Amino acid sequence: MLDEEHARILDKRKSGGGGGSRVLRFFLWLSCWGWNLRRRLHLVTAKRWLFLVILATTAYVIYSSCGKPAQVHPPLYGLMRTRPEVLYRCPTLSSSGERMRKYIDHATISAGGGNRVRMKIDPKVLLFVETTFSKLGRDLAELLVHNRMKYKVEVSGKSLPVLRNGEKGRFSTILFENYTKYLSLDEWNRNILDKYCAEFDIGIVGFMPSRDETFVGAELRNTAASLLIDTNVRIKDAYLNPSSSVLRLTRAGDIVRGPLPNEPSDLWTVFYPNHTTYEAVSMATPFQEGGEAELHAPPGTVNIPLVTVVQDKGEADGIRRVIFGAGLKFWLHRLLLLDAISYSSRGRLSVSLKRYILIDIDDIFVGERGTRLKKSDVEAILTAQEGLRRLVPGFKFNLGFSAKYFHFGDDEENAGDDLILENSDKFMWFGHMWNHIQPHLYSNLTQLMLDMMKNKDFAKEHGIPTDFGYSVSPHHSGVYPVHDLLFDAWKKVWNVKVTSTEEYPHLRPARLRRGFIHRGIMVLPRQTCGLFTHTIFIDRYPGGQSKLDESIWGGELFQSVVYNSINVFMTHMSNYGNDRLGLYTFESVIKYVQCWTNLQMVTLPPVLLAEKYFKMHPDEGDPIWGNPCDDPRHRKIWSSNKTCDSLPQFLVIGPQKTGTTALYTFLTMHPAISSNKPSPETFEEVQFFNGKNYLRGLDWYLKFFASEEVLPTTNVTTSFAHASSSFASDDDANAHHNAVPTLPPFHEEPPPHTKRILFEKSATYFDNELVPKRAHALLPRAKLVTILISPAKRAHSWYQHMRAHNDSVALNYTFYEVLTASVGSPKVLRDLRNRCLNPGRYAQNLERWLSYFPPQQLLILDGEELRDDPVAVMYRLQRFLQIQPLFDYSTKLRYDRSKGFYCQVISQNRNKCLGRSKGRHYPPMDDRSEKYLQSYYKSHNSALEKLLRRLDHSIPPWLREDLIE
Ligand code: A3P
Repeated sequence: MLDEEHARILDKRKSGGGGGSRVLRFFLWLSCWGWNLRRRLHLVTAKRWLFLVILATTAYVIYSSCGKPAQVHPPLYGLMRTRPEVLYRCPTLSSSGERMRKYIDHATISAGGGNRVRMKIDPKVLLFVETTFSKLGRDLAELLVHNRMKYKVEVSGKSLPVLRNGEKGRFSTILFENYTKYLSLDEWNRNILDKYCAEFDIGIVGFMPSRDETFVGAELRNTAASLLIDTNVRIKDAYLNPSSSVLRLTRAGDIVRGPLPNEPSDLWTVFYPNHTTYEAVSMATPFQEGGEAELHAPPGTVNIPLVTVVQDKGEADGIRRVIFGAGLKFWLHRLLLLDAISYSSRGRLSVSLKRYILIDIDDIFVGERGTRLKKSDVEAILTAQEGLRRLVPGFKFNLGFSAKYFHFGDDEENAGDDLILENSDKFMWFGHMWNHIQPHLYSNLTQLMLDMMKNKDFAKEHGIPTDFGYSVSPHHSGVYPVHDLLFDAWKKVWNVKVTSTEEYPHLRPARLRRGFIHRGIMVLPRQTCGLFTHTIFIDRYPGGQSKLDESIWGGELFQSVVYNSINVFMTHMSNYGNDRLGLYTFESVIKYVQCWTNLQMVTLPPVLLAEKYFKMHPDEGDPIWGNPCDDPRHRKIWSSNKTCDSLPQFLVIGPQKTGTTALYTFLTMHPAISSNKPSPETFEEVQFFNGKNYLRGLDWYLKFFASEEVLPTTNVTTSFAHASSSFASDDDANAHHNAVPTLPPFHEEPPPHTKRILFEKSATYFDNELVPKRAHALLPRAKLVTILISPAKRAHSWYQHMRAHNDSVALNYTFYEVLTASVGSPKVLRDLRNRCLNPGRYAQNLERWLSYFPPQQLLILDGEELRDDPVAVMYRLQRFLQIQPLFDYSTKLRYDRSKGFYCQVISQNRNKCLGRSKGRHYPPMDDRSEKYLQSYYKSHNSALEKLLRRLDHSIPPWLREDLIE
């Protein structure tokens, strides 16, 4: 896609201002170059003139083929070159591309051929790696992630993890990065693992190291039927055994010609099956540059093909195995691995065999003269589309248009535009931005809608269908990071229901791209195919044609189709004019997928496709908002009106009833600290990360924080780069109990800083399952402040709070009845009990936060100390936030006798205390409830004590008491 600068150039060209001739540009370029040359030559003799003329001619040729600007197609260049053609024919397919879809359902396969009972097993892989950093181990894990398979990693050589959960197995496949680690397991562990595999009828997949000299001409004895192998072998020309029962997704379609790669060098292990349990899955022939390969093949096997992947059907010991003679550098092994996992898991870990594909051609009218579609290009698209429909039934290219640039080409190209419109019913369509301006640059909904309307009016006028419910945005702008104006305008003008982006959560790694739904618009993940606006000639493809071919013939693009059930690819008009790389790429890859796999390629209109996607991945509907400033690509397409400076730097996370309002109030007294603006629904709390508000999006959240302000009078410094230790020792706390804290100097001088520190307090964040993950995604460097009091007292205070708020259940049941609600109790009562008790399981809740945030970012305050000595607590909090100079709370807070709590000093005789709802008077807790809670929280309090010790925190007095009682 082009940006708005590009759009301006196009405008200029249309008005004749930018259409300078190629010759003029060439001579301008040459004159600069020549001038430099002349300065060096000093004298210009006749001979040198001749030399210069020859040089100029040569330079023109060079300029024509790789000079600037890249978008212009010089005529000379056109004469010298040919565009790539799809010559590939799959030898095992008929000319119409028909193929017999014949493969075995792995669910019906059982080791040794018997018909075993299917046991309950989690669909999860147990992956044994050499080390946590080993290359093949990481490749294996990445492949599993890409195919959305759950796995657990273990380092080989350590003890085995727990394999079963009662009657249920925990793993459906055992995968060894190094198969010899399986063979060399000590007898005890080997027995456990083999017994598990045999009992649950699951298999083992492993990779043989290929450079191990000890295995040259060796015998793998440590299995029921020994297997002869050879290592350090170079091989070429791989092909598959079409009757292997391992093959499911993979089809024995062709021969991969040439020497076969492996890592770290191109040496392989090959197998010599010598028992009926072994069967070849993949084969190859020896390869030795300039000579005969040295093999140690047993007699009788010398002239037969070398087996590179072997299947053990489990005839000898009831365990199926698939052993690979090389890693995943060879692309075919990636497919075979998916099949090996399916085979060994008896179909529990089988990927779907349907692949949905949607190919967008965006910017259909956007492009400089000389790069646009001509009539012949449009005809080529129509012909190719017909051809593709034989392989992908119903296939149609999906065209995106910015109508402002209609008829911006020369006569031939304008005729191309006309031919597209004449055939508009043969394509799917989507409206792009009328003028190709990125939506995040709009801050006015009306203007954005007006521009969209212009595009829609053009569509109606020219017979382009407007009801596909799909759109994409230039450079993903406004889609992610979300610009709500775009979503609103799309809905109102086009009734957009689906869009797609490569940017969620990030462009790379591609395997982690996901979809989400925002404001009723489904955002599909988009895959990359290696073609961009400017990749229009094959010899200017980065890395040359061989690089593009590598991606098509088994490489990145091919694997993208294999691994993703739903593929949405973005291409551009310029990829279909010029060298027509779009057609070459997709016709080739689809043919190759057809040849090498049993995948059924299908297509669907975008809305149906998106519905399918979110049905397949229901967990992906809710987004996880990341921090736009942490990804340079995201920052570029984030509105300049929005800034990460208006995100909070620390969160007070609760739990409720521990003194969070008092802390919030004291914080807002600080001249350097600002809270969020109040919410009409939830008052001082935004409650963004925990509930429905989160789905309103980041724009909504940002509105609660004032834009950055410069403090005129204070000169406060803070540092959020380093967190100081939290929860000071008892001695420290006591030292400040009654005194105004003396301010020790900081060890590190933080940089001067004159911005307010923003924070947010939502007490319900503490125990919500989703909040730590969401908070970390948006605010990974935020500091967290939590306040703890005795969990029993907290539960009682919460119950009283609910009664004071006229909660009918709390009013109808005593505290004890709430605490002791059980399975037979009304649901409302059980729910109230959970809400009352769960936050007090402090250790469990804190562990969840600590699985996302490092302990240095967490400050645990003692709520009882906050009540009795808020000055000391505020001092500690300021140190944790690294604020300098410290604000002296000793003159700002005073104990109020009638309230019974510390309050804000207003004047010599007046205090401002928290409202009646804080520091209520209610009857003390009854004995039964106290005893009940004592026992209920016992294990949780012990866990908290352990956690605090682990974090090197002091143990608050109330916890000591609770543990003693
Ligand atoms: P009670 O009302 O049960 O006494 P939260 O603000 O998190 O809901 O916590 C309310 C609790 O804060 C009150 O519970 C009270 O005990 C405690 N608290 C601590 N310092 C306070 C203060 N200075 N003023 C009022 N309440 C305070």
